[in-house]
Amino acid sequence: MSDKHQTVAIGDVEIDMGADPAGDPALPAPGARLSGVALGIDVGGTGVKAALVDLGTAQLVSPRVRERTPQPSTPEAVAATIASVVTKVLLGQDTPGVLPVGCGLPGIVKHGRLASAANIDPGWVGWPATDNIGAAIGRPVLIVNDADAAGVAELAYGAAAGRMGTVLLLTLGTGIGSALFIDGHLVPNSEFGHLEFHGHDAETLISGAARERRKLGWKVWTRQFNEYLARIELYLSPDLIILGGGVSKEWPKWGRMVKARAEVVTARFLNTSGIIGAAWAAGAVAGGGVAAAGDRLLPGSPLDAAWLAAGAGPGAAASPDGG
Ligand code: BGC
Repeated sequence: MSDKHQTVAIGDVEIDMGADPAGDPALPAPGARLSGVALGIDVGGTGVKAALVDLGTAQLVSPRVRERTPQPSTPEAVAATIASVVTKVLLGQDTPGVLPVGCGLPGIVKHGRLASAANIDPGWVGWPATDNIGAAIGRPVLIVNDADAAGVAELAYGAAAGRMGTVLLLTLGTGIGSALFIDGHLVPNSEFGHLEFHGHDAETLISGAARERRKLGWKVWTRQFNEYLARIELYLSPDLIILGGGVSKEWPKWGRMVKARAEVVTARFLNTSGIIGAAWAAGAVAGGGVAAAGDRLLPGSPLDAAWLAAGAGPGAAASPDGG
């Protein structure tokens, strides 16, 4: 990679790779698209899901396979479930020789490992996830935070496609995940589910699971959620807030009670955003370290290129014909 002007084409976009593949690449315009196929895996507190994704359209091009997250959700047990799910997804599929694989995990992702584990076994913290999941499935894998994955799916293809300004996605499920974008750039590992709220970790009071555990009706829960949103608006003044996760499916029951200064919409992808976003991130990195929605890939970021060294480097992107 000594040629200072080496370029890589991703779809219609020609990317200047610069001299250092791990450096700060030139960015395509937000909203530019990837093409080809990648495998997305989404590890949640209750299920491990995976599918092949057409990066041009965000369509799933294989069955979506789901297995229960093992309990306890130790990294070794979950890695075995990931391997089982991936085997089922790829069974009988005609996939490209080098298939970008992305895996969303519910914690802070740093240098190929989780740096936090709120809703998954604490044994994940510091466990070499990139290496060990890659070994379990026999392919290089890119790990990303699950909410960041859901966010990039919405930014690349969904409710925030082409949006500039400050965009915040909140996933309201077992915990609360967040993905923050500024003019199309991901600010990785935002963790707004853990804001202090009435002396507690916010997600323990107002996640989707907390609503059920606390047996809160929609009216009471929405009132508390509004208070949480007001806090976030004070800190960030987002232009657009996207709500995903289980409770967004129940939007007709509470959406009209939501109060915010920002525009508030529900996620376009509900059960599949984590899969689509993880696939997109892997496809973007395999394509040369630049993500379609304008994501900036810095050395050491969760979308970093260390993984490229494992054999999925530039030029190994899924083919432009979708194959
Ligand atoms: C974790 C986040 C994760 C979210 C949703 C939170 O408890 O800290 O990293 O994105 O749950 O799974």
